[in-house]
Amino acid sequence: MTEQGVSEYRHEPVLVVEVVNWLSLPRGGVFIDFTVGGGSHLARIAEESSLDSQLYGVDRDTLAVETARARLASFSQVTEIIHAPFASAVDSLAERQIEQIHGALFDLGVSSPQIDRAERGFTFQQGGPLDMRMDRDMTLTTAADILNTASQAELTSMIYEYGEERRASRIARAIVAERESQPFSESRHLRALLEKTLGPANLTKTLARVYQALRIKVNDELGQLQSGLEKVIELLAPGGRVGVISYHSLEDRIVKNTFKSRVGECVCPPNLPVCVCNPTSTLNILTRKPITPTAEEISANPRARSAKFRVAEKIEVSD
Ligand SMILES: C[S@@+](CC[C@H](N)C(=O)[O-])C[C@H]1O[C@@H](n2cnc3c(N)ncnc32)[C@H](O)[C@@H]1O
Repeated sequence: MTEQGVSEYRHEPVLVVEVVNWLSLPRGGVFIDFTVGGGSHLARIAEESSLDSQLYGVDRDTLAVETARARLASFSQVTEIIHAPFASAVDSLAERQIEQIHGALFDLGVSSPQIDRAERGFTFQQGGPLDMRMDRDMTLTTAADILNTASQAELTSMIYEYGEERRASRIARAIVAERESQPFSESRHLRALLEKTLGPANLTKTLARVYQALRIKVNDELGQLQSGLEKVIELLAPGGRVGVISYHSLEDRIVKNTFKSRVGECVCPPNLPVCVCNPTSTLNILTRKPITPTAEEISANPRARSAKFRVAEKIEVSD
């Protein structure tokens, strides 16, 4: 990784004061930032933590890991920056003799450097390859691979479920017809096809939804969140807190329902005859309504506008 890539990494962190206030650590506590990015949240946590705390960062993006390692090197409490998707990073904690943690943060989604660099392929605003992998070393399938190989039914359900786009089946049909003559590799190609198929009405919203669907699929974002969050809740010490900042309704629903199912509330769909979610009582939800950025924060950092922060605390389980 180039020094230049690290020095150019700019990501304005969201809800920093709120994160520090809600996730303050006990002396000697273990804290893991599962989406460390450029390290801004973890740096603020480090500033507020005792010198005998152990702080870890995790990210699946190589540039983020390199940047966080460089920027957090001066904090003696920052023990390690782990390069891994968070669901597998949790499994690797046992090898590091970590059996309980006292605080955890997930600041979901993509970072500004991922979105802003055309070569990463996350945006429909610029050209670039249809890549969208957060970890180009570990994930093999790109967005172009999905567009070129998934069946029409798979594309329809991906765009409908992960993009919440009503015109999913029309879009999937057009993609399958187009790739017969010209397989996808460039972002401009997909954009031009959607423009031709759908016309100008609501085009920007639809483009955002289709790109969101592809990004979620390429990185298994919702599977990662569900499994990472469940594992982290297991690892929390009594009184330990987990906070999640989400940026769209699919993520927020997983966070809300995972928390609710651990305060003993059933979160099964109402049409199920019996409960299958097996609610347990292990958490206390500290934010019944999510915390959202102030108008001042949104005007200074428009990418904060959809952020929702939820926090829960592990309770003592009596026998
Ligand atoms: C919104 S940014 C976080 C920014 C960070 N809080 C900061 O202060 O700079 C999200 C980061 O999470 C990482 N990420 C997203 N999903 C991940 C996953 N499943 N496992 C590990 N890292 C992930 C992305 O690569 C990105 O760097």
